[in-house]
Amino acid sequence: MDSIVVRGGAELHGRIPIAGAKNACLALMPAGLLTDDMLTLTNAPRLSDISTMAALLRSLGVAVETRDDDQTLDISATSLTSTCAEYEIVRRMRASILVLGPLLARAGHAEVSLPGGCAIGARPVDLHQYAMEQLGAELELRDGYLHARAPGGLTGGVIEFPMVSVGATENALMAATLASGTSVLRNVAREPEIVDLARCLRAMGARIEGEGTDEITVEGVERLGGATHSVVPDRIELGTYLIAPGITGGSVECVGGRRELVAAFADKLEEAGLSIEDTADGLRSSRANGRLRAVDVVTAPFPGFPTDLQAQMMALMCTADGVSVLEERIFENRFMHAPELMRMGARIDVQGGTATVTGVARLKGAPVMATDLRASVSLILAALGAEGETTVARVYHLDRGYERVEEKLRACGAWIERVRAT
Ligand code: EPZ
Repeated sequence: MDSIVVRGGAELHGRIPIAGAKNACLALMPAGLLTDDMLTLTNAPRLSDISTMAALLRSLGVAVETRDDDQTLDISATSLTSTCAEYEIVRRMRASILVLGPLLARAGHAEVSLPGGCAIGARPVDLHQYAMEQLGAELELRDGYLHARAPGGLTGGVIEFPMVSVGATENALMAATLASGTSVLRNVAREPEIVDLARCLRAMGARIEGEGTDEITVEGVERLGGATHSVVPDRIELGTYLIAPGITGGSVECVGGRRELVAAFADKLEEAGLSIEDTADGLRSSRANGRLRAVDVVTAPFPGFPTDLQAQMMALMCTADGVSVLEERIFENRFMHAPELMRMGARIDVQGGTATVTGVARLKGAPVMATDLRASVSLILAALGAEGETTVARVYHLDRGYERVEEKLRACGAWIERVRAT
């Protein structure tokens, strides 16, 4: 397993290109199942999760070709050879559950392995199941697989989500596009990835209104056609690199970033003392001299503070002036980066879903362990400002969601290198 070694202390100055959003692309790719024409996705990120989704689609008989240095994906579900998402693939990536809705809509049945939990939580799929049942499907859990069937096709219905779920919203939205009749989805997720998916589905011929609000209406159509769609920039990668100069000092321009993708988050960074400015090509984050102020954070569905940026914010608060209280309200176990940051000298007290961080002058480099995708990048951020050398082990977590981290940071002056496992 590869490691990443960082020697902290260098200020960051330069430009970082922001890639297409992993979490948008992981929903856009299964949307290709909804048509027998070609769906082309441009600005796709080059990440292991994207390769895993491509492997899953190929296992269903879908042709997935890449070009433009893997940033363009041509997806052709001309004919399916299987409707079964095998455990072997699904266990590696929970987002595999996003083939459920499209397969039901396209083929009238699907067998999808339960994803199983992951480091940050149990990650149940009951809301996905509920949404499909509201569209007329019958689902049964057997041998670790969800067996779903809608022999006469899906029928439009009302889906009242009891809690906001990004993935269940995406499955419901995709399934409803080919259901007969109109569907109303309430208390839906409002993330930019949902808006991006709706735009792509509309380009394919779907009739959708309301994306980005808490209620979406879908009028089912007979069939969808192909389209070419550019993946929205990754707001989590953007937020991660906006934080970096807050830890190291300096100024970084995130090319392709847009403030509306990270509004609440950018407000928090400014409250802490970072300056976040729009530029012609994106967003610039700068830290003038002096320590940042500690600020409090509560994670919430969009447009609130993203749970996927909580770990990175904790890294920033480790050396802020004062006490910061971070409340994680989306996942039940998303503070695994805290003990690793404490190995570097951070002062953090975790009680249930609340972490209290008391800022220290500076962290010290140490060997640390990545545990999940966002925790791993928070350790890299902390290492950039720490005294001495940090080795982050198990960076395969990192490669799931961040393209070429060491290249992007080295280009801005960081001392960082990847050590290939022998
Ligand atoms: C998506 O996961 C993202 N993944 C996650 O990003 C992100 O953290 C999450 O949304 C929240 O924003 C992708 O888009 C591929 P949810 P998802 O359904 O859809 C509970 C990353 O780091 N829930 O909105 O799985 C669930 O347990 C990843 O890129 C149910 O109870 O998240 C959680 O507590 C991590 N039943 C809450 O809802 C369900 O059926 C929000 O989950 C589904 C979810």
